[in-house]
Amino acid sequence: MSTIRDGSLAPGGKQKIDWVREHMPVLNELAREFRETKPFSGLRVAICLHLEAKTAYMAKVISESGADVTITGSNPLSTQDDVAASLAADGVTVHSWYGASDDEYREHLRLTIESRPHLIIDDGGDLVALLHSSYTHLIKDVIGGAEETTTGLIRLRAMAAAGELKIPMIAVNDAYCKFLFDNRYGTGQSVWDGIMRATNLVIAGKTVVVVGYGWCGKGVALRAKGLGARVIVCEVDPVRAVEAVMDGNSVMPLLQAAASGDIFITVSGCNSVIGREHFLNMKDGAILCNAGHFDIEINKKELAQMAGEIRTVRRNVEAYIIEEKRIYLLAEGRLVNLAAADGHPAEIMDLSFALQVESLRYLNDNYGKLQSDVLSLPAAVDERVARRKLFAMGIAIDSLSSAQQCYLSSWKQE
Ligand code: ADE
Repeated sequence: MSTIRDGSLAPGGKQKIDWVREHMPVLNELAREFRETKPFSGLRVAICLHLEAKTAYMAKVISESGADVTITGSNPLSTQDDVAASLAADGVTVHSWYGASDDEYREHLRLTIESRPHLIIDDGGDLVALLHSSYTHLIKDVIGGAEETTTGLIRLRAMAAAGELKIPMIAVNDAYCKFLFDNRYGTGQSVWDGIMRATNLVIAGKTVVVVGYGWCGKGVALRAKGLGARVIVCEVDPVRAVEAVMDGNSVMPLLQAAASGDIFITVSGCNSVIGREHFLNMKDGAILCNAGHFDIEINKKELAQMAGEIRTVRRNVEAYIIEEKRIYLLAEGRLVNLAAADGHPAEIMDLSFALQVESLRYLNDNYGKLQSDVLSLPAAVDERVARRKLFAMGIAIDSLSSAQQCYLSSWKQE
């Protein structure tokens, strides 16, 4: 039985899922194939992902491919209750609701892992961490899992290095068709969607400070420029900092940037990157938000300690009053693109979720042959997803002649 907020919301959720389905051609192609071949027949699949329409559609595809699917949300503010209701009405077991407290969030995770999965899809590592801490007796039935995001992979690699990872985990985030598009163009667009929906303010002419210049940070900075902002990048990695400079951004320490920024976006994956000393340096009206997986990048505790008053001034906007100064925090410092908007565009998640579904197939096809480690998805699978996307977009490309293939595989000059 599902644990959802309100089953009567299902029609609204169905409408959202129907819309994204029309814009996810690669996943549709896999769905057509899997409906025939039923590759997950008899298997239980547990999913922990941002529970919005694209995720729901993928869960339906896996369910229609023969699996018994149980799903929870990977963030208390990203679950959409209407989508959850629609999915539950369609035979997927859902344990999630919007605005879950920490205890409720953990309970939803527990209910999901208690479905005794053979296959797991995780986003951020919470489900796999729970399996390896409180549910070790279930590990023997798990064929493997797939991890969606950078933060989850950092956790998994730490587990593997400590010898504590007991199942094969596919690093979906490391596939080219994931990070090049989802992290860069997906985050680049959806973060601005979230900021603009939350604030309804102009971006042109503002100074935007992007903290972290990984693939997500690159996308956020790129789109900020397109919207007419001046961009400052703050980085700790010298190579990325050089890259940020050559991409046309200003680069400086965050303490210095704090004084001139109008909008601050954390995408570093690290904790407490913006804290007391930065808040003290900020201008009146500075807007802060986070696009990293966890709400640990902006030190909310210090912000609250410094504030004489905290007021909700709009949906997803809280003003922290520090003496005469107002600092606005969006979406409680949680992922602004999912808490204040709908996450990445459907055409982008089409690639990421095609890779997820392909990862489950790969794990199942290679049952017993894979190591309990963090594993790459074979390049051929990545390439197949890219080819399907090109086909769906109506774009043809050239191929190498056999003479060219021969040239590229020999070391002698002719
Ligand atoms: N929608 C579902 N999962 C998502 C993710 N990890 N990032 C952005 N949008 C999403």
